[in-house]
Amino acid sequence: MSSQPMRPPIRLGVNIDHVATLRNARGSAYPDPVRAALLAEAAGADGITAHLREDRRHIVDDDIARLMQAIALPLNFEMAATAEMQAIALRHKPHAVCIVPEKREERTTEGGLEVAADANRLTGFIAPLRDAGCRVSLFIGHDARQVEAALRVGASVVEFHTGHYCDLVAEGRAEAAEAELAALRRAIEAAHAAGLEVHAGHGLTFDTVAPFAAMDAVREVNIGHFLVAEAVFMGLGPAIAEMRRRMDAARA
Ligand code: PXP
Repeated sequence: MSSQPMRPPIRLGVNIDHVATLRNARGSAYPDPVRAALLAEAAGADGITAHLREDRRHIVDDDIARLMQAIALPLNFEMAATAEMQAIALRHKPHAVCIVPEKREERTTEGGLEVAADANRLTGFIAPLRDAGCRVSLFIGHDARQVEAALRVGASVVEFHTGHYCDLVAEGRAEAAEAELAALRRAIEAAHAAGLEVHAGHGLTFDTVAPFAAMDAVREVNIGHFLVAEAVFMGLGPAIAEMRRRMDAARA
């Protein structure tokens, strides 16, 4: 028997937003994000993530209602910290609520949440969600102030924004990417040491998932756009299975 301690497992949350983007591009009923969620479950996903944006550009309210009915996997409901979204979360009581910053004009979630500067409001915002049994996660950058503030406002989870790292890798800026990864690693270790559960996500691909999957402190990654894009070529199930394989190889 090996005396090596067991490494904590890492979960793969599949974000299905961009299945809805494709559906909405033509105003059709297909492709259905709920069907994608069921397929993701069969392909080895550990959770489903969906972001209900204020402008409903991809996921719409009915998708959330149908996901809550149809899937056995935990739903990670991404939303902005608005009264409207809080009411929707309290109605459905998903397994987890991930609070993200949201700007109407952005193409995707550009940065992390400003927790430190908005701590009083976030404390009051999070409390009823926690009371309803939702695990509350905050999507943040690698700034140490945000980690400390996440603890103070009552979050149980922080998800670190990996988008900048992935962009630097894609641009071939290896040195800058290494520096960004080192900063993320320091923040991830600090958050874990402080007792927060650590997740990572945004922009992750087959080529960028490994360093995060290899960190013991990271317990979940959430990946969407790349998987849906790759589904065009290899199918969604195989894309998810390949991501899972790469994560497991990096963690082994
Ligand atoms: N995690 C969070 C908090 C996000 O906002 C997003 C994008 O909706 C993702 C993960 C997934 O990012 P991507 O679609 O680039 O994989």
